[in-house]
Amino acid sequence: MSSMRNYKICVQGTGYVGLVSGVCFANMGHTVICIDRHRDRVENMRKGKSPIFEPGLKELMKKNIKNGRLFFETSLAKGLKNADMVFICVGTPPKKGGEADLSYVKIAAKQIAERLKKTKQYLQIIIKSTVPVGTCQMIEDHIRKFYKGEFDVLFCPEFLREGSAVKDFSFADRVVIGAKDKKAARDLVRVFGSIKCPKFVTNRESAEMIKYASNSFLATKISLINEIANVCEDTKADIEEVAKGMGLDHRIGPYFLKAGIGYGGSCFPKDVHALNQYAGTKGYDFKLLKAVIRVNQQQRDNFVKKIKAYLGDLKDKRIAVLGLAFKGNTDDIRESAAIEVIRKLTKLGAKVQTYDPEAMERAKQELDGQVRYFRNPYTAARGCDLLLIATEWPEFKKINWRKMKKLLKQPIVLDGKNLLDGSKLKKMGYVYKGV
Ligand code: UGA
Repeated sequence: MSSMRNYKICVQGTGYVGLVSGVCFANMGHTVICIDRHRDRVENMRKGKSPIFEPGLKELMKKNIKNGRLFFETSLAKGLKNADMVFICVGTPPKKGGEADLSYVKIAAKQIAERLKKTKQYLQIIIKSTVPVGTCQMIEDHIRKFYKGEFDVLFCPEFLREGSAVKDFSFADRVVIGAKDKKAARDLVRVFGSIKCPKFVTNRESAEMIKYASNSFLATKISLINEIANVCEDTKADIEEVAKGMGLDHRIGPYFLKAGIGYGGSCFPKDVHALNQYAGTKGYDFKLLKAVIRVNQQQRDNFVKKIKAYLGDLKDKRIAVLGLAFKGNTDDIRESAAIEVIRKLTKLGAKVQTYDPEAMERAKQELDGQVRYFRNPYTAARGCDLLLIATEWPEFKKINWRKMKKLLKQPIVLDGKNLLDGSKLKKMGYVYKGV
């Protein structure tokens, strides 16, 4: 048995970051109370129902509710009772100009301050939401307006990926802790005690930048490989081979070198914009990030162009789009390339037939009535002039392409994720184009 100290943790906000962190902290042995203002969401979570699709999460939720380590409440007062620390995990959505909207973080901080005024307890307030440099200091000053007692504000960025968040939590590469001084960071280092990885303690401003810089670096890697892919197009150079060869150099690494329709999701697009915008406020023109954003948009537009090149006028053409989520293993469609491409296709008069294993319900709320939804890839493809792969779902690799060929009106496959074995499809008589 480890001699790890168990902490009483309150988590404010049960979105992706909050819920996954809360459940995983409980699973490490801490006592966790997750707070959300939506009563029905809280009631469902108490029954072990996860509001998000995330492999492994539901099981851990159920296990830790049963163990008496994981609780869900609407009242912050209940969450903060005897708590050692509170994690602020509310959203920081982009504002019109791209900068992060900090109003939810400020509201959360004020609620905490008002509670502290009553209880006078010492509390560590840890921001987990992605926020620009200087936010911890700003929040500290904001709390101080309402409460003069003792507290610490820290920053602990999240590096989880949707679809593998539970695994990423337990097998993290690093934990980054931004604190005013070493003493303030001590408890947080212990909270992550049983996770075997470096716990990097630095000042709050550096930690805030580490989060933006990490996501910007990964997005840059993706835009770089996409541009290399564009240059390889119509040559004998194969981008998959190029990426493999590059990745063998450990300074480059094999990850995030998958060319395709561009990155999406709730993080990369938002964070790259926010860092670019933040640089602007400092009078710095971040040329590289601007290019990363432009290239990402271009990748999406290129697919619409390619479809037009094959089909000509898209009016009343039937197009099958397989995948709606911004990547595989998630039902999240935020900033999904699939959704944007579908919108463009229907605007040009095309009839889109689609299938996604998890994201159809969410997509129905976003897309208009032009789009039809099917229960499997084959029924979605029936009668279509072209098929587009827009999400890297593993199950699309197992499609029976012989069967598929009989269903499609024309055997044209565009692979937005370079997911399939193109040469195999070509041998079967398909027109196949990846990136
Ligand atoms: C990303 C980061 O990977 C996490 O470390 C971070 O914690 C998270 O953002 C966040 O800031 O909360 P996530 O958005 O879940 O995680 O998804 P990724 O797996 O990073 O993929 C992002 C997008 O890039 C997807 O659309 C994916 O299809 C695309 N991608 C990824 C590529 O086009 N090529 C690649 O090689 C890798």
